[in-house]
Amino acid sequence: MPTPLPLPLSGRPAVVVGGSTGIGRGIADAWAHAGADVLVLSRSEPTGPGAEALRWAPLDLTDRAAAQRQLAAATEGDLRLACFSAVHYGDRRALFGDAPEDEWRRQVDVNLHGLWLTLAAALPALRRTSEAGLFLGVSSEVVFNAGPGRSGYAATKAAGAALLNSVAQEQDPDDVRIVQVLPAGMVDSPGIRRRRPGGFDYSDYMQPAQFGAVATELALNASTEQHGASLVVDGGGKWRPVGDEAPVSQSRRTAS
Ligand SMILES: NC(=O)c1ccc[n+]([C@@H]2O[C@H](COP(=O)([O-])OP(=O)(O)OC[C@H]3O[C@@H](n4cnc5c(N)ncnc54)[C@H](OP(=O)(O)O)[C@@H]3O)[C@@H](O)[C@H]2O)c1
Repeated sequence: MPTPLPLPLSGRPAVVVGGSTGIGRGIADAWAHAGADVLVLSRSEPTGPGAEALRWAPLDLTDRAAAQRQLAAATEGDLRLACFSAVHYGDRRALFGDAPEDEWRRQVDVNLHGLWLTLAAALPALRRTSEAGLFLGVSSEVVFNAGPGRSGYAATKAAGAALLNSVAQEQDPDDVRIVQVLPAGMVDSPGIRRRRPGGFDYSDYMQPAQFGAVATELALNASTEQHGASLVVDGGGKWRPVGDEAPVSQSRRTAS
């Protein structure tokens, strides 16, 4: 009987913060499918097809002190791959004056400070590996398109992208490569479904699994040129640098 070939990411330790659902889950599943040893961190455990291939540890980014401890524990050993995809969208789109301060604080805690905590924990571990580690941030078109009814989401995502771009300029790509990915359109995820009415038609939405190819390719072959780049992923799972064509705004007008 021939010995099976090793999987391309065989045994590579990975963490995916916000990998229980949505795009983070698509990335976690793809890395695990390619053989990586993937630890998902989120409030709820991954369920459904593929969940058996993922390890999980609880993490609630709104509890800053506990989150710092949990992220430190998750990154204390070897680490080759890290992804940050956690998000708090808010219950609904709301104009600035109608958005409660609690919502804003939660968006800062999850979308921005959560990224800061993840970078602080993961970067030293990713830099320790013999080959360059990869930090993958999940970005959004809103970083490039301000829009009504989502000022907190837009502000925290734009600040998160700036944080990653700045840190990328401080890092040697021979030690760690930092890349951001964002969808060309809307993605069907539990977080988005919570904000849509029953019976909504998702047929033109992308699927989280469409991030699998770019995540696996970057895990294997992220180039030094891709360090600091933002890549737009389309419905066919193909990707291009964001500078080639500005991503289309997904903002809708809100009733005032
Ligand atoms: N969906 C889209 O159309 C779209 C478009 C552009 C960009 N994005 C970006 O894609 C990323 C993922 O969004 P998504 O819509 O695909 O996924 P999602 O289904 O909303 O998943 C969000 C993830 O964040 C985790 N999370 C939420 N609150 C958390 C907390 N307090 N502590 C720890 N983890 C928390 C969730 O896990 P638990 O609930 O288990 O904690 C889940 O794993 C986000 O960065 C978003 O900005 C999405």
